Amino acid sequence: MSLVVVSNRVARGKPNEPMTGGLAAALLPVVEKTGAIWVGSSGRVRDGSQKEPFAEVEALGAGALAMLDLPAAHYGGYYEGFANSALWPALHSRADLIRASQDDYASYREVNAFMARALLRFRKPDSVFWIQDYHFLALGAELRDLGATQPIGFFLHTPWPTRAVISGVPHHRELIEAMLAYDLIGFQTDEDCENFLSYVRDDLELAVQDGIITSLSGRTRAAVFPIGIDPDRFAQQATKAMTHPDVTRLRRSLNGEKLAIGVDRLDYSKGLGNRIKAFDRMWTLHPNLKRTVSLLQIATPSRGAIEAYGNLQSEIAKLVTDVNGVHGEVDWTPIRYLNKGFGQGVLAGLYRTAQVGVVTPLQDGMNLVAKEYVAAQHPADPGVLVLSKFAGAANELDAALLVNPHDIDGMARAVAAALAMPLAERRMRWEAMMARLNNGTIQQWFADFIEALRDTRNPDKAIMPA
Ligand code: G6P
Repeated sequence: MSLVVVSNRVARGKPNEPMTGGLAAALLPVVEKTGAIWVGSSGRVRDGSQKEPFAEVEALGAGALAMLDLPAAHYGGYYEGFANSALWPALHSRADLIRASQDDYASYREVNAFMARALLRFRKPDSVFWIQDYHFLALGAELRDLGATQPIGFFLHTPWPTRAVISGVPHHRELIEAMLAYDLIGFQTDEDCENFLSYVRDDLELAVQDGIITSLSGRTRAAVFPIGIDPDRFAQQATKAMTHPDVTRLRRSLNGEKLAIGVDRLDYSKGLGNRIKAFDRMWTLHPNLKRTVSLLQIATPSRGAIEAYGNLQSEIAKLVTDVNGVHGEVDWTPIRYLNKGFGQGVLAGLYRTAQVGVVTPLQDGMNLVAKEYVAAQHPADPGVLVLSKFAGAANELDAALLVNPHDIDGMARAVAAALAMPLAERRMRWEAMMARLNNGTIQQWFADFIEALRDTRNPDKAIMPA
């Protein structure tokens, strides 16, 4: 069997190349090992009829990476438009931020169709397709229209919201019906899968039994595959990174002071404003924690051409300035705020340096930063994870200090408790979380999904409803 993996953003596997978003970073090591072909956007656009899609192809471990130039006339409507101004806010339950024009939807469908045509070039007779994320909800249906008969799987890295929220997306019905061209649809959590199935049951009025949907397109299985990381690889990276110049300079600058760390894309789903307010509150309530702990917040710019992201950038920058203005001293900066990306080889060392990892999104599919922070800790003296209960990771990492990201006081208390936590409790919690990470690695996730995808075509397997 040969595997073709598709995602909008890809990673090139260059050491220390900054990576944006959990998806590309997570897929890289498995794609390298399995010898799959990974197809995605080059980030560049091209004019013309696009009858022959232009792809730059390079080796990636045992496999290959193909980066396509997407059609210039449709890229904006697809990426900034429908994918990130209609689907992304809806999937993160921000119906108030949904903006979508008819043209954006048309461009989204055009790019899905373009990608389907391009994929046929990489197909072998035994190829299986695995499509990633909300950029390509309709890609399976486009492939079927072009005559593809092989198994096609889809995995959603984001949450899936309630029926009411997803119904705020123009053309929601058409899109979800198109998704039924997939043989297997994977979600991060039970809640996401259940929300999707309840739409299928109640809005599409289709029969669903044991996660299997029967429609005019045939059978589609919806199931849960929580994505993981490679904890051993991350721990090794952390050990190695401790001598990286950025990490050494950070440690020297701390002068014995403790560090809390947040690492996020600059995105409204990440709850950055509430997090900064929680630190403000903590320093106000516990002035003894001034000069005792500072926050390193890395907020990597993302989707800057979209208004909601531009507004967020100004809002967070102002908040950081205000908090630093109130609590700072001539020789102490409470929040170190960086608008840039780092490679995993440095991040792992930054995580190990920090006594507290703060991962407090308002909504998040999984959030791999939470898992990476845990894996990067030194077993003898691990830090504490403060984790939003609305991140998919909270289902597995329940030994973290779980917080409600809307409750500023509660988060302030949790960070203070993390800083004061005795070693024995830190170790107990860390060991429990590591056991979960070792149980659900990225390799396991990949293998489980592919096996389930192949099983959708195996008459001996239990895909048939009883
Ligand atoms: C999230 C999405 C990914 C996306 C990443 C980075 O993790 O689930 O599909 O690639 O964000 O977003 P960007 O728009 O910069 O590719």
